Amino acid sequence: MLKLPEQLPKQVKIVEVAPRDGLQNEKAVISTQTKIALIDQLADAGVSHIEAASFVSPKWVPQMADSTAVMQGITRFQGTRYSALTPNLQGFEAALAAGVDEVVIFTAASEAFTQKNINCSIAQSVVRFEGVVRAAQAAGLTVRGSISCCLGCPYQGDVPAADVVRVVSSLKDLGCDEIDIADTIGVGTAEQVKRVYAALDNIFPLSKLSGHFHDTYGQALTNIYAALQCGVHIFHSSVAGLGGCPYALGATGNVATEDVLYLMQGLGIETGIDLAKVVKVGDFISQALGRSNQSRVGPALLARNARL
Ligand code: HMG
Ligand code: MG
Repeated sequence: MLKLPEQLPKQVKIVEVAPRDGLQNEKAVISTQTKIALIDQLADAGVSHIEAASFVSPKWVPQMADSTAVMQGITRFQGTRYSALTPNLQGFEAALAAGVDEVVIFTAASEAFTQKNINCSIAQSVVRFEGVVRAAQAAGLTVRGSISCCLGCPYQGDVPAADVVRVVSSLKDLGCDEIDIADTIGVGTAEQVKRVYAALDNIFPLSKLSGHFHDTYGQALTNIYAALQCGVHIFHSSVAGLGGCPYALGATGNVATEDVLYLMQGLGIETGIDLAKVVKVGDFISQALGRSNQSRVGPALLARNARL
């Protein structure tokens, strides 16, 4: 049984994933300029960690094919770190050349999803990542390991916590600095979240595990609160609630950054991010994509401000 900390943390780290997780699933071509504007506006709002790009196969995810141009076009804000997905050494070399600060290797707690997403087994993915981690460490980059389907899989269904523990242990042995616990299809609920983090206590520091919650079933904020209670204080979110994985059909976006910031503000937890500015970014990108804003807080604040 996990001994819960007495108090919630005083500050949390928010990793903004809209430029990667948010945009990768969009079918219409998004201009490189729009992607650059999104990233720069997020950094200007005080976001200190931005998942900016993805150096995967353009045949698999065409929307991310301009990742090098995106990285080269952004304004580097002091104090902001830019990460990118790198599934193999080929992706790593491109990410390094493009100047990322952190690389993300990604696998899953479910075999079926791993096959669909990166075309190999979990064990093969770990072997493949060895070279990426060694190369990243040699280049002085930090490495994040992301584990999909920790709370459920679109192909397999339930995912035992023991499977999550096994993959976390493998990524720890590889030398990951941080590990993401992802609910790719947003099916998890609060007690399950607590069970998974409890199972990971003593395996990897809770302070270096994140919560990457998609909001498909409307559980993401509740799951974040449950994770906070466990001692987790790194959360991934996406402005305007953009997102989805091409290999997780039916999964909708990540929890909206605006909604997470509002929650943290209410809890008196520091994020270092300007909510009002992020609301404007959410409006900008929703209009640019011709999509309705999936945040609850963003449109509410925009409507309130329009009435004032
Ligand atoms: P593969 O086809 O098995 O790879 O794909 P391969 O090594 O046989 O190479 C085939 C071709 O791809 C070759 O080109 C390679 O050069 C090229 P060809 O000779 O045919 O012209 N290639 C690459 N090109 C550019 N960059 C690369 C690269 N690697 C190979 N890095 C691979 C294996 C892993 C590459 C592929 O399956 C892939 O790119 N998958 C990525 C899928 C993806 O991006 N999914 C979404 C991100 S994960 C996610 O969203 C979940 C997350 O948010 C957490 C959560 O919510 O769960 C992180
Ligand atoms: Mg995701």
